[in-house]
Amino acid sequence: MIGSVLAIAKGGAGIVRDGERTVFVPGVVAGETVEYSVAGRLRSAWQGRLLRVLEPSPERVPPPCPHYGDCGGCNLQHMSLAEQQRSKAAILTDNLRRIAGSAPQAPPPLLASPAERCRSKAEFQVAGGAAGFFARESHRVVEVAGCLLLPRVSEEHFLRLRPRAAALDRGQWRVLSDGCALASLLEGNDGRREWLSPERSVSFAIGPHEWRVGPENFVQANLFQLAPMVALLTGVVERERPGTAADLFCGAGFFTLPLAARCDRVTALESDPANLASLRANLERNRIAHVRVLATDALRGAPLEAELAVVDPPRGGLSGRLVSALAAGPARTVVYFSCDSATFARDLRLFQARGFVLEELKLIDNFPHSDHFEIFSVLKRAELSDQ
Ligand SMILES: C[S@@+](CC[C@H](N)C(=O)[O-])C[C@H]1O[C@@H](n2cnc3c(N)ncnc32)[C@H](O)[C@@H]1O
Repeated sequence: MIGSVLAIAKGGAGIVRDGERTVFVPGVVAGETVEYSVAGRLRSAWQGRLLRVLEPSPERVPPPCPHYGDCGGCNLQHMSLAEQQRSKAAILTDNLRRIAGSAPQAPPPLLASPAERCRSKAEFQVAGGAAGFFARESHRVVEVAGCLLLPRVSEEHFLRLRPRAAALDRGQWRVLSDGCALASLLEGNDGRREWLSPERSVSFAIGPHEWRVGPENFVQANLFQLAPMVALLTGVVERERPGTAADLFCGAGFFTLPLAARCDRVTALESDPANLASLRANLERNRIAHVRVLATDALRGAPLEAELAVVDPPRGGLSGRLVSALAAGPARTVVYFSCDSATFARDLRLFQARGFVLEELKLIDNFPHSDHFEIFSVLKRAELSDQ
């Protein structure tokens, strides 16, 4: 079959219309004319296979990694970085239009990242004597000769210790680096744990604070975007000057520390024990006593005394109960960091129905060479937004 690629969908495949059917074809660029076959249905969507590019896009480039196509880590390497970013902006805009009911006219401003050596954390898979990354849509482990997304120190560590890790029957190997130091933890599916580095954590400077985290913690994926993400938040806080703030889904305290530096009282909510332990250690290390830590499920929507709320949920986004609780409380401003444009658009619609307006929106390209991205947004109560 022959068709033209209308756009790139979430997941990185191109959208091709075949009569009544929409077919998702990986490995293509928006605007290209391609020959493809229909391979079947996956989760109710028709999956295509690229046979030939008949009219290539000028944005098509040779993939920089020899494992591209086999390794499941990247799915946009066949596009220029600019085209990757345009595709992500189009995905975000499309979701806002379809799910939230409206989208900004212009593409959202972009916080771009260098495409290489940018990842803070690697999660290698180990199975059957191999250590590497999962193949696309599979649990087969692809043995890679390196990964251009990783800092050199993580890549060298991986290559040096791969034989030792591969001796494990089956499990994960997590390596966290700040670009110089690293912490490395091998965990078998049978519960066996082995540290492969002398250090169990690495530290990052967040303003005047030291933020210490390990491979078991949540850490934003892109080393180059850590300081800019904090700056986005502190820009809002310094403009709004809230006395009280809440950090929901706070992890090990990445946003809690800058909030604590600027607000009289902060409440931090997190449910994962490893993140809670590191959060508490980070507060103690930095002698911060005015943060109340709640080990709780934030989705339950407990009432919060906070003029400004930061929410940074996993891909599933927020719950109706949480949005209602934030709307019923004193929050004038919600800073919403999201890693999923569909659930973000769904939640934005809920906020808008409860009197909030979208005041600021940015796309943070934390994941060059893959279709993932982060969203930064500021939502304000309607009656306050035009003052
Ligand atoms: C996207 S991470 C953000 C972490 C932190 N804001 C950061 O930037 O490092 C989401 C965090 O929410 C936590 N989490 C997931 N579900 C939760 C829930 N229902 N209630 C509270 N925390 C949750 C996870 O453990 C994780 O630390």
